[in-house]
Amino acid sequence: MTRQPFFYDVTLRDGNQALKKPWNTEEKEIIFKRLLKLGVQGIEIGFPSASDMDFEAVQYLAGLMPENVVASGLARAVKYDIERAAQAVKEASKPRIHTFIAMNPLGLEYVLQKPLSEVKKIAVDSVAYAKSLLPEYGEVQFSIEHFADCRENLDEVIDAVQEVVKAGASIINLPNTVERFRPMEFLRMVEKMRNALPEEVTVAVHCHNDLGMASATTVESYFLGATQLECSLNGLGERSGNTNMYEVAVVLHNSDVDVPLNMSKIYGTALRVAEMSGVPIWEKAPLVGSDALAHRSGIHQDGAAKTKHLKKGAYRAFEPSLIGREDEKLGFTSQSGKTAIYEILNTTPYKITMQEAIRIAPVAKSAAEELGELSKEKLLDIYFDEVFTVKGAFKLIDFKQIADSKFNLEFKYGEKTFDMIGTGDGNLDACLDALDKAGFPLNLIHYEQVALNEEKGVKADAMSVIHFGTEDGKTVVARAMDNSTAKANVKAIFNGLNLLK
Ligand code: KIV
Ligand code: ZN
Repeated sequence: MTRQPFFYDVTLRDGNQALKKPWNTEEKEIIFKRLLKLGVQGIEIGFPSASDMDFEAVQYLAGLMPENVVASGLARAVKYDIERAAQAVKEASKPRIHTFIAMNPLGLEYVLQKPLSEVKKIAVDSVAYAKSLLPEYGEVQFSIEHFADCRENLDEVIDAVQEVVKAGASIINLPNTVERFRPMEFLRMVEKMRNALPEEVTVAVHCHNDLGMASATTVESYFLGATQLECSLNGLGERSGNTNMYEVAVVLHNSDVDVPLNMSKIYGTALRVAEMSGVPIWEKAPLVGSDALAHRSGIHQDGAAKTKHLKKGAYRAFEPSLIGREDEKLGFTSQSGKTAIYEILNTTPYKITMQEAIRIAPVAKSAAEELGELSKEKLLDIYFDEVFTVKGAFKLIDFKQIADSKFNLEFKYGEKTFDMIGTGDGNLDACLDALDKAGFPLNLIHYEQVALNEEKGVKADAMSVIHFGTEDGKTVVARAMDNSTAKANVKAIFNGLNLLK
């Protein structure tokens, strides 16, 4: 049976201790409130014996902790630390002391310089002492620091941990304090420990990200029965950080696990944490990086555009709204194609057609070869140049009304000048009539006027979009802008004629 994951956040402790400028109480409170909004089940608020500032922060925030969230303070397996932690968390409805000591051969020989039998006694005594300082509803968590390095003495460590459980620890945390090996090595150890402990003991994992596999290791540990997942916001923590909470939450969600978090708060939280910690989010960071939903190659852009309405996108690992992000973003570079132009410019009032996108793609591509990714504004410039003022054999000289339903159209085709009178029901009809009389018959297929505000410094109230064809079956969608509707129509027709010739 897999239990619901228990998200135990260590941002305010492991994350904080690795900051260049650790947070004060006020700063911690900002992150603390974000954690509550995210809905984590437990928060390790700090290391009360590390400094008076951290003691005060833990004590203050433990007092603000909602009833259903565990308030935890870290303590080495020494009396002073345990007493400080007990004092700091005592106001919480769910107080927890988290005590730890290393049991790995390297740590025993060089750091603690004690045999495991002695360390086991320290661990058992510390847990019993911590338990004695807490109210009946308080909990003790015990961590075997450097658990992943206990490969050679795992059986003895398991024996020791069984004693620790008897002394009162109800949560056993297995840290991958320094990630050195493949995840499977760690998973085998987690499984062995899980099987050696009573069912009612919660097994936790706490993975560091030295080799970039902390999230994977944490997730797979969950499926082996470690239900408390120790994570941090933005993956903050010692060295390369701790397991990133967002990654774990989303992959579990994608794997149909009921994730007890308000995941839509993830993106906003990530930005705030980056700001507060001074640790910027790398643009390629999974989920929350600025590029995490960006597509630049034509093939990916095409697949993304065709599947943007689906839950599962061709090149998208998660639904952006799940974590509170906006939709996928297409960036136009020399690797991109017509789909990007079409999609990007359709977010403007101009509603470009695919035919126009195809037309301007080569021009945009060569501009991008030189400039790199083109901004929307640059694409618009190209669009205006290529579509709104199409140069060619047809040159409009003048178009004016001379009487009711009667217009004069002057234009050049190559070297020849035409001065025609057109009549009709309105200016567009009259223009088509004049062109017909000049020997250029056109069929109007669709006509649309789009009201525009001032765009790009062009004082234009109207944009005409005219779809028409020639007698030999060629069709075009052409457009133009002007503050006179009549001029916009005629300009659009001439743009279209030049596109067709
Ligand atoms: O990484 C670690 O081993 C720790 C312990 C204190 C749990 O942070
Ligand atoms: Zn740690």
